[in-house]
Amino acid sequence: MVGGGRGAFIGAVHRIAAAIDQQVELVCGAFSSDPERSRASGGDFFLPPDRCYGTFEEMIAKEKALPADKRMDFVAIVTPNHMHFPPAKAALEAGFHVLSDKPATLNLAEAKKLAGIVKKTGQLYGLTHNYTGYPLVKQAREMVADGKLGKIRKIVVEYPQGWLATRLEASGQKQAAWRTDPKRSGAAGCIGDIGTHAENLAEYISGLQIEELAADLTSFVKGRALDDDGNVLLRFKGGAKGVLHASQISVGEENNLNIRIYGEKGGLEWHQNEPNTLLVKWLDAPMQVYRTANGYLGKAALAAGRTPPAHPEGYLEAFANIYKNFANHIRARIEGRKLAKDDLCLDYPKIEDGVRGMAFIEAVVKSSKANARWTKLAV
Ligand SMILES: NC(=O)c1ccc[n+]([C@@H]2O[C@H](COP(=O)([O-])OP(=O)(O)OC[C@H]3O[C@@H](n4cnc5c(N)ncnc54)[C@H](O)[C@@H]3O)[C@@H](O)[C@H]2O)c1
Repeated sequence: MVGGGRGAFIGAVHRIAAAIDQQVELVCGAFSSDPERSRASGGDFFLPPDRCYGTFEEMIAKEKALPADKRMDFVAIVTPNHMHFPPAKAALEAGFHVLSDKPATLNLAEAKKLAGIVKKTGQLYGLTHNYTGYPLVKQAREMVADGKLGKIRKIVVEYPQGWLATRLEASGQKQAAWRTDPKRSGAAGCIGDIGTHAENLAEYISGLQIEELAADLTSFVKGRALDDDGNVLLRFKGGAKGVLHASQISVGEENNLNIRIYGEKGGLEWHQNEPNTLLVKWLDAPMQVYRTANGYLGKAALAAGRTPPAHPEGYLEAFANIYKNFANHIRARIEGRKLAKDDLCLDYPKIEDGVRGMAFIEAVVKSSKANARWTKLAV
């Protein structure tokens, strides 16, 4: 693992998600930008001292020098955005697979470079757009792909939060400080941090790609360099239209990610704060309520659950589904097994999603600077 040391947020989520199915074990790490803190953090996880490294460069070099059956299999990257590309590049080029947190890189140019490195090295690259891991998100995707809703016309996706409604970064709060700093966060704040989750979720469920967009970004909090609120109109390839809004100043909102998709025959509605329910709406019949772990669900949705109906599963389990599929893909590689195109383990976000996410950020920023002019999402 790179990042995720003492005081960090998402690293701990990755460690839990990795362990849920007992397919992945944390064996080493460079957990902090501070070498001493990194070693101390590794001690917290009961790792042997010789595998708690001071830097990711040291970790990659020393792990590479270990015998093949002793060294790490892949690197999980859980650092702030500016520190995604350097360890990803180094790990891939040293022959290790990479599972990175989002957004893929600091900017689109880096993401394109990374896509080239993934292709050249042939290593696996996964991106933890974890919301695609929910069972009923997979159900929604399958129902759209099977044509149950008819041709998709409209997508409304929202990701409001309220935790940056004040100038929290001025207090030195770690997560707020880097997210509002262009050098570490990238060209966008809120749109990069959570808008990309909304963009990825809309494309994942609908199977449609955003072609162009018109965006209006705002930094409501005085003195903040990056957007803390964004409203975006979307045009998808094939004619569907959409609305995306992401916000970190929507006071009182927690992680209220939700999506509604409407086709010619039916509609879908899913909320991440009620993730085990999917509402399915029909033109000429009453609304249906789909629930996780029931036999009427599709293959992907059933495989993504672990407990019987009504035993709540949520964020950590959805996150674990990314880890499970990624680990199964690595296992197939190690065992030299050929995978069918529709093998469930191939269902995790990849570098192509990462490049699209970065192109989305750049297009949103460009459009907003031009007073919400329609702008192509160019990868
Ligand atoms: N998928 C999700 O739902 C989700 C949620 C939160 C954050 N994230 C993403 O995860 C990443 C981290 O976010 P966070 O909130 O955990 O940040 P954080 O500030 O809490 O943690 C970042 C960690 O990276 C470490 N770090 C920084 N530079 C390093 C280096 N050179 N080598 C080793 N470690 C280094 C820091 O010391 C810290 O431990 C971000 O890219 C963010 O966008 C994703």
